[in-house]
Amino acid sequence: MDNMIQLDVNRFHRAIVRPVVVVTTLSRDGIPNAAPFSFCTPISFDPPVFSIACQPGHDTWRNIRETGEFVINLPGEDMGGAISVLGRKFPPDVDEIKEAGLTETQSKMVSPPRILEAYGWYECRMVKNFELGDHIFIAGKVLIAEIRAEAIDEVLKLDVARPLCHIEKRFFTVPEKMVRFDD
Ligand SMILES: Cc1cc2nc3c(=O)[nH]c(=O)nc-3n(C[C@H](O)[C@H](O)[C@H](O)COP(=O)(O)O)c2cc1C
Repeated sequence: MDNMIQLDVNRFHRAIVRPVVVVTTLSRDGIPNAAPFSFCTPISFDPPVFSIACQPGHDTWRNIRETGEFVINLPGEDMGGAISVLGRKFPPDVDEIKEAGLTETQSKMVSPPRILEAYGWYECRMVKNFELGDHIFIAGKVLIAEIRAEAIDEVLKLDVARPLCHIEKRFFTVPEKMVRFDD
């Protein structure tokens, strides 16, 4: 095949669509932090485990290393503007959730807050971490998973949740079409 181009391997991720999550954590001093992640995926059903890959300099990693807890907030398209704000670097003593105009609400099983505007929440406790390339792989056991009732039927309702997905940099997408392949 002649009509293909070679991707810069350090930007290979721009050829794949990935969900965006917002990870909320608490510093040792109790200051909430929130940051968007798209290097993220579920990796085990039982026990339920969700993983993210975090650059070592991020406040998110410092907070998870110190407290072991984090919340995976699932954002819809309506949180897109706030996600651009959360992607900026803030000093560690700034409450980024307030800066982004989002609302904190109490979690049920961990100390870091949930973001009220999300359509779903996974509260996690770290079970493993290791350095992998230029990121830290962080796996958390999902202690409780909740979703807005109107956003789920047998599976996620795309038209209600409008889950935000990332391609690269400022390029995002929202899946609109459900495709089902029967046996
Ligand atoms: C859509 C989006 C996805 C991102 N995904 C990741 C990621 O998977 N891993 C990562 O380390 N940083 C990722 N970032 C960058 C961090 O969110 C950003 O550097 C943030 O300021 C880190 O905040 P913190 O220092 O408060 O943890 C992403 C940014 C955006 C906007």
